[in-house]
Amino acid sequence: MKDPITISITGAAGNIGYALLFRIASGSVFGPDQPVNLNLIEIEPALPALEGVVMELDDCAFPLLNSIVATADLNAGFRDADWALLVGSVPRKAGMERNDLLGINGKIFTGQGRAIASNAKPTCRTLVVGNPCNTNCLIAMANASGMPKNQFFAMTRLDENRAKSQLAKKAGVHPSQVTNLCIWGNHSATQYPDFTNAKIDGRPVTEVITDREWLEGEFITTVQQRGAAIIKARGASSAASAANAALDTVVSLITPTPEGDWHSVAVASDGSYGIEEGIITSMPIKTNADGSWEVVQGVPVNDFSQGKIDATVAELKEEREAVKDLIPG
Ligand code: NAD
Ligand code: LMR
Repeated sequence: MKDPITISITGAAGNIGYALLFRIASGSVFGPDQPVNLNLIEIEPALPALEGVVMELDDCAFPLLNSIVATADLNAGFRDADWALLVGSVPRKAGMERNDLLGINGKIFTGQGRAIASNAKPTCRTLVVGNPCNTNCLIAMANASGMPKNQFFAMTRLDENRAKSQLAKKAGVHPSQVTNLCIWGNHSATQYPDFTNAKIDGRPVTEVITDREWLEGEFITTVQQRGAAIIKARGASSAASAANAALDTVVSLITPTPEGDWHSVAVASDGSYGIEEGIITSMPIKTNADGSWEVVQGVPVNDFSQGKIDATVAELKEEREAVKDLIPG
């Protein structure tokens, strides 16, 4: 058995938290020989509900669950963390865009960024799920003084999974046959699900699905608006699929990417593809055999794609401007 690793999760009593914790504790994320410590972080009013979740975790008697901390104290919550999954924040309601939440949620990530820097392991990786996740990730990263920027991520995997599902439905194949699907930019209505480089069974999507009007129109807007469609249908934002995507992201970041493929996650740009350094933007990412990751280079960007990427990066710059007071100089 390996030494336990510590996973800190904010918003642990929330809807996504409920769909996340049990899968981590069961071993389905970090493997059947990897014990885990769960550090569950909530705001004070949600601690009684969190206590109920802890009781349920106890009642599962998971062989790999080594310890549980349930706390509203950020220092205790992020102590020795190997992973920080920042979920805790307010979800949007019908009629809102995700960046309408910046004023409510943005400030959460200053203190959490500082607490991660002071308490987590220096190698801790942080994945931000709480919306608007790209800009919240920027805030956390900027406040986590001394932590390497390449250890901060924001979640666009749900968008990738949604895009693969839509393409698979249209082509009459299984989603697992769709590869090389990159979400560019912001987890917002400006995101660009790049069908131009995606493949179905190794063939360009554009050869398999010849309805270009659908690809350039309905496909993109369906993926961009999927979160809103779920809120309209359920009366609450996506939770199980979001938790699933968070875990897919972690698994993809700790597992070598299949040769020639990539996965989508927002990272601090290193200037690749002409995107300003430091912007937290989704890009094609591959994980190496040694556990490091890199931006996949040389993915063709045609004029149509460039226009879409420019628009979503412009929105990220606007969001950054709106939270400049939360970003230390
Ligand atoms: P929820 O309201 O069910 O749960 C949120 C939890 O966070 C609550 O228990 C709340 O008490 C807690 N919380 C609030 N402020 C906190 C703080 N400062 N510290 C710790 N915990 C705090 O919401 P949910 O459905 O779990 O969604 C959580 C977030 O994830 C929302 O912002 C939502 O928009 C976002 N989300 C992102 C994606 C994505 O693809 N990136 C997908 C789905 C949802
Ligand atoms: C989603 O994409 O489902 C989440 O970001 C929730 C939302 O507000 O759309």
